[in-house]
Amino acid sequence: MSTFSEKLFKWLESRFGIQKFIDFANKKTVPKGRHAVWYYFGGVSLFLFIIQVLSGILLLLYFRVGEESSYESVRFIVAQVEFGWLIRSVHSWSANLMVLAAFIHMFSVFFTKAFRKPRELTWYSGFILLLLSVTFGFSGYLLPWNELAFFATKVGTDMIGSVPYVGEQLLLIVRGGEDVTGATVSRFFGLHVAVLPGIFVVFLTIHLMFVQLQGMSKPENWDSLPAEKRKTMPFFPNFVLRDLLLWLIILNVLVILAVFLPMELGMKADAFAAAPAGIKPEWYFMFMFQTLKYIPPHVLFLEGEFFGIIMFSLGGLIWFLVPFWDAKTKAGRRNRIVNIVGLFVIMFIIVMSIIGFSV
Ligand code: HEM
Repeated sequence: MSTFSEKLFKWLESRFGIQKFIDFANKKTVPKGRHAVWYYFGGVSLFLFIIQVLSGILLLLYFRVGEESSYESVRFIVAQVEFGWLIRSVHSWSANLMVLAAFIHMFSVFFTKAFRKPRELTWYSGFILLLLSVTFGFSGYLLPWNELAFFATKVGTDMIGSVPYVGEQLLLIVRGGEDVTGATVSRFFGLHVAVLPGIFVVFLTIHLMFVQLQGMSKPENWDSLPAEKRKTMPFFPNFVLRDLLLWLIILNVLVILAVFLPMELGMKADAFAAAPAGIKPEWYFMFMFQTLKYIPPHVLFLEGEFFGIIMFSLGGLIWFLVPFWDAKTKAGRRNRIVNIVGLFVIMFIIVMSIIGFSV
């Protein structure tokens, strides 16, 4: 007598031929070794994204966008709704941890050179996921319509106005008017809950498909290792179970942070009030914010801010194109140049952020 699961398998197999999907899922193996810890950060980013979607849907049940309702509905969520404060706090903490995990994931891929052939497109799609993640953060920050978010968004969007010729038009499109108003929060809301999730899921599917099709990258010295040292484990179930254990630990950390350090709501935004002292962007924008302060008001014939934006865009483009310029570099110098660039970028981000938070 066959068991229920065998019957179910036969039923599905005769209709959909699911064996080929199972074979596809079983194909991947994960190299073991010291560097293996870095293989977990993509999965951590994925887990935190899932938390974002679930907690975001719960927040949506009570959140009402608008100049007269955003702040009030968030206050209602944290003060009146059963566990509303917890869900809001989890959503904010998880957003920060997701960006952090994605940054760690990107740097580990960079230093382990996992972006090299054949994984160039995985790198490009991942970079787009990181840009989408920080845009999620920027658009979500304004939604509670509190003082800090209002002024941070004002400063953040002001930069768009410094773009020559089209700046004013762009600013009108982003803000839905000349100033940050209810129209801005409505736009950011649409972006945050519809446009970004849609695009993110498309790129995430592509990214994960690539990883599944190509398997995990091997460490650089893999081929020179003796056969007995080239150990791997099956992705399913061994690696997946480790992933799940890590996700459980992260869920605990997340809840501890959310309970003991709940996100503050602060005062409602008042467009006529003076900007409070110490307006700071989210930590992942801090290095850019701080660098822009050092640029003089005019550089050549350009506004200083716009010059800064061009410099950061160029830097971002060079970083994005690493699979391309790395492949063109002479074999002996490839690793050295990549490592120097990576270290410089990490040091720059850390030093500028520390200065930004300490002044
Ligand atoms: C923001 C959301 C992201 C999610 C949810 C995500 C998810 C994943 C997952 C689950 C894996 C397989 C496991 C692993 O290697 O860690 C992976 C691999 C990979 N990701 Fe991401 N990723 C994201 C962002 C990025 C970024 C920002 C980059 C680089 C710019 C990137 C580049 C790669 C590459 C090249 C691999 C293959 C690594 C290998 O084979 O060793 N990903 N990603």
